[in-house]
Amino acid sequence: MFQKRALITGITGQDGAYLAKFLIEKGYKVTGTYRRSSTRNFWRLHYLDVKKDISLLPVDLLDQTSIMHALREVEPDEVYNLAAQSFVGDSFAEPQATAEITGIGSLRVLDSIRFLNPNIRFYQASTSEMYGNANQTGQSENTPFHPASPYANAKLFAHWNVVNYRKAYNLFATTGILFNHESPIRGIDFVTKKITDGVARIKLGMSEKLLLGNLEAKRDWGFAGDYVKAMWMMMQQSVADDYVIATGETHSVREFCEAAFSRVGLDYTKYVEVDKKFLRPHDVVFLKGDPSKAKRILGWDPSETSFISLVNMMVDADMEKYQNPERQMKQFLKHI
Ligand code: NAP
Ligand code: GDD
Repeated sequence: MFQKRALITGITGQDGAYLAKFLIEKGYKVTGTYRRSSTRNFWRLHYLDVKKDISLLPVDLLDQTSIMHALREVEPDEVYNLAAQSFVGDSFAEPQATAEITGIGSLRVLDSIRFLNPNIRFYQASTSEMYGNANQTGQSENTPFHPASPYANAKLFAHWNVVNYRKAYNLFATTGILFNHESPIRGIDFVTKKITDGVARIKLGMSEKLLLGNLEAKRDWGFAGDYVKAMWMMMQQSVADDYVIATGETHSVREFCEAAFSRVGLDYTKYVEVDKKFLRPHDVVFLKGDPSKAKRILGWDPSETSFISLVNMMVDADMEKYQNPERQMKQFLKHI
């Protein structure tokens, strides 16, 4: 039977791991790329129990040869370009590295596909950060972009290259403009995971305070497991296009704190403090997506996981992580 082949750049990240799981369940042969480093970073693949079902190849988006090698080796039908320096806060400290990896890195993948096999379908992980602060009522595919960080600038460069390559070279190159999506395997630097990890530590007496930055920033937070399904749906269409993927709801960081602390019976105002160190030179203060197009054309349902169930899922996973560390370690050791 014909088995589709997918190549996922950035499979060691949150979305890479969820997408790998989703595609394996769909019957794909999945290969993922990882960065060579002194310590292996496969814990998310173990957590979702997919490491044994995938192949891995070393690729750095800074190195076109490694990208071309992976494409020749795998001969994928679909490439999902998820790799990026994805932390907005760090992009202010490392603007050039962010531009190189997140911006030009995507172009390297696109150009490699154009030269090696223009029939490969390409997905680009675009972002709601590209909207910046210009529109504070809600954002759709027609909302103008006003990026407010080196990360958003790099993503916008990548985004427009995909749109232009689609037209110029007739590539099946699609973009998902994804709003924030979270999960128990979200990176610890991002605010939701920092909060839920902090809640568990405080509840279990391992910590006394949680220091955060801008509590009034609002985000449209969904569950990563629901969002990778939308990526795949975009790739199955007859024409490539751009789609907003969001819940259509917005909540402040303060509201997230309130919900997360109350999950374990605590009042957030007693533990959360603002530390200027976590304020950004320029912050995006309001994001709320309009996913009508994805709903209409893809049939994607934005409401599979509610805000409260997302918060509870993350808090519960962090409580479990500290209460049952042996269980996690056993699961991990089983695979190495
Ligand atoms: P993530 O957890 O930070 O994962 C990023 C991945 O990129 C990791 O596998 C990382 O490898 C890899 N990477 C970093 N630099 C690289 C390089 N030079 N060469 C090759 N790989 C490199 O991000 P995520 O949350 O899964 O997000 C996936 C993508 O969606 C990213 O492009 C992100 O910008 C975008 N996005 C995310 C969201 C969201 O809310 N999660 C929303 C919109 C768009 P290491 O493990 O070695 O660091
Ligand atoms: N990280 C972090 N740490 N953010 C904080 C903190 C803190 O201590 N305190 C307040 N915040 C605020 C940030 O200023 C921002 O307004 C909001 O919380 C969300 O920050 P992050 O969780 O770091 O996410 P992000 O919105 O900047 O970026 C994420 O979502 C984008 C999609 O909109 C990342 O996943 C990006 O890669 C993604 O493109």
